[in-house]
Amino acid sequence: MNEDSGLTQFSLGINAYRVLAPEARSVGVRTHQLRFDNLGAEPAAASGSRVAEEFLTASRLRAHDREGVLSAADYFGDSMVTTLAQLDDDPVATHQLTELPASVAATMELGEALMRRRSVRRYSGDPIAAAELATVLRLADGLTAEADVELLRGGHETFRFRTAPSGGGLFPVALHVVALDVSGLDVGVYRYQPVRDVLVKEDGRAGVDRVLDAFTTPGTAIAFDTAAALVVLVASPWRSMRKYGPRGLRFVLHESGAIAQNMHLAVTSLGLGSTDCASFVDDEVHAALGIDGVLRAAVHSVVLGRLE
Ligand SMILES: Cc1cc2nc3c(=O)[nH]c(=O)nc-3n(C[C@H](O)[C@H](O)[C@H](O)COP(=O)(O)O)c2cc1C
Repeated sequence: MNEDSGLTQFSLGINAYRVLAPEARSVGVRTHQLRFDNLGAEPAAASGSRVAEEFLTASRLRAHDREGVLSAADYFGDSMVTTLAQLDDDPVATHQLTELPASVAATMELGEALMRRRSVRRYSGDPIAAAELATVLRLADGLTAEADVELLRGGHETFRFRTAPSGGGLFPVALHVVALDVSGLDVGVYRYQPVRDVLVKEDGRAGVDRVLDAFTTPGTAIAFDTAAALVVLVASPWRSMRKYGPRGLRFVLHESGAIAQNMHLAVTSLGLGSTDCASFVDDEVHAALGIDGVLRAAVHSVVLGRLE
């Protein structure tokens, strides 16, 4: 149904009266505002899904949560320690491997970068350098430290840490980079692999077009045609939920925010511009990236480019 069709307008018109007359029967088309205005004014069954609130209550930490304690305890055993040490260290096929150049200096003082950061939605249309992209990715979620962890059976493993914090060090968010105009990098879809600090090529120009088509933002709002790159944050929620239950999904969303902010500050510090962009059709992004949308799902995106 066309959003502007007479039927949509009519349906919204009827629903608009319900704020004043909650007893009026609703038709199917409802805005989020209508749902909010009528919270509690209708039986739960009629109000439709309250899935976001259900998530909030289902993900509460409760006192004496034995299942939670047992689930977390599993992560201190040798087998999980070894598993975590190998996290994201999967081998990359040579034909997919794209090495990244050394970073450029991002020397702007942190306070200044915080004060200067602004959502930038229009870009000059000039390319960014691969070294600038590499710097943004490394500062967003690159490896920064290692720690030795002793195994109960003897021996030890190495844990790795990144610029962004992560609940339980599980790192459930991956960066998928859509290179639109990056010097020295073919137009394509890549995955940043922080452990090896490389890009893994996943798709070419056709894949780029598929991802861009999934963005509903009009070009007048965010100028994708002059942007240099789009970074889609892809979460593996069960990495966190396996340990923390539904609360792990809070961590996933929290962590993608931390990574996005790291990206914005890095971009600002390099004299580039970026904006968050949540306006994508999830199913289409998932299809374009070849992910199922449940075990791996796009949770956010950041567009970046050279300042006008
Ligand atoms: C989670 C999130 C989603 C956003 N999605 C969009 C978006 O889809 N399109 C857009 O133009 N801006 C988007 N923004 C940017 C906000 O509009 C922007 O942060 C806000 O207007 C404040 O301006 P500032 O970032 O310059 O401080 C988003 C920001 C956040 C944090």
